[in-house]
Amino acid sequence: MSAGLNVVLLGAPGAGKGTQAERIVSEFDVPHISTGDILRAAVAAGTELGRTAQRHMEAGELVPDEVVIGIVGDRLAEPDAAAGFLLDGFPRTIDQARALDDILAEAGRDLSHVIVLDVPEQELIERLSGRRMCRGCGKGYHLTFDPPVDEGVCDACGGELYQRADDNEETVRNRLVVYRRQTEPLVEYYTGRGLVSTISGGGRLPDEVWTDVRAALAADRPA
Ligand code: AP5
Ligand code: MG
Ligand code: ZN
Repeated sequence: MSAGLNVVLLGAPGAGKGTQAERIVSEFDVPHISTGDILRAAVAAGTELGRTAQRHMEAGELVPDEVVIGIVGDRLAEPDAAAGFLLDGFPRTIDQARALDDILAEAGRDLSHVIVLDVPEQELIERLSGRRMCRGCGKGYHLTFDPPVDEGVCDACGGELYQRADDNEETVRNRLVVYRRQTEPLVEYYTGRGLVSTISGGGRLPDEVWTDVRAALAADRPA
């Protein structure tokens, strides 16, 4: 039995998960659970979790499975996730996917949709090198594709824009290798369960991609 919209958003670094997540949560009213955002907040706060996570993240490697599985298990138990959720950046390994299945099964729940954003590698690199993030509200921008009205300032909240520590060329290249090796096999894992909608996210504006994402989420089964 599945309660509500229980979504996993899969895609390489820079594929547009965060960009589409902003639209999904405002349209479908589900909490946005981004393990990357949770880990970056822990790094900024200087907690023990943050110190563990930081060296993996800055190398473009994955944070250990048991750490992120614990975070997601706790987060899914919060009341606001009871009627549905959007997972962005989790699971990223087969072991994480199995753990998620167990967490949901124990609660009598299941995934309803897996959305895969498919973008060519060269475009991923361009997107990540020009990305800027708001320190205040977390909104994402791109220097060329989605610039703020005033340079360095968030349109939404006036916060300061910054570049993520892992958006340098060397780390980006490793993140892409790690994605292909450890995360891409999840597409096949979920395809076997009839959950996957693959959406072409390359060479199209975020709103064009969103039209397809919205249609996939509005359907009970993938097209
Ligand atoms: P995470 O924060 O999840 O990063 P990621 O997966 O590398 O993905 P990004 O956030 O970089 O890209 P995105 O797909 O969200 O793209 P965005 O929408 O911003 O993880 C970071 C790190 O944390 C990992 O490397 C790992 O160390 C750790 N971690 C996290 N989860 C973990 C887990 N489960 N297990 C272990 N470790 C974990 O878009 C990118 C740019 O492109 C933006 O500038 C945007 O404006 C622009 N853009 C978006 N759409 C378009 C479009 N259609 N056209 C043109 N530009 C576009
Ligand atoms: Mg993101
Ligand atoms: Zn902001």
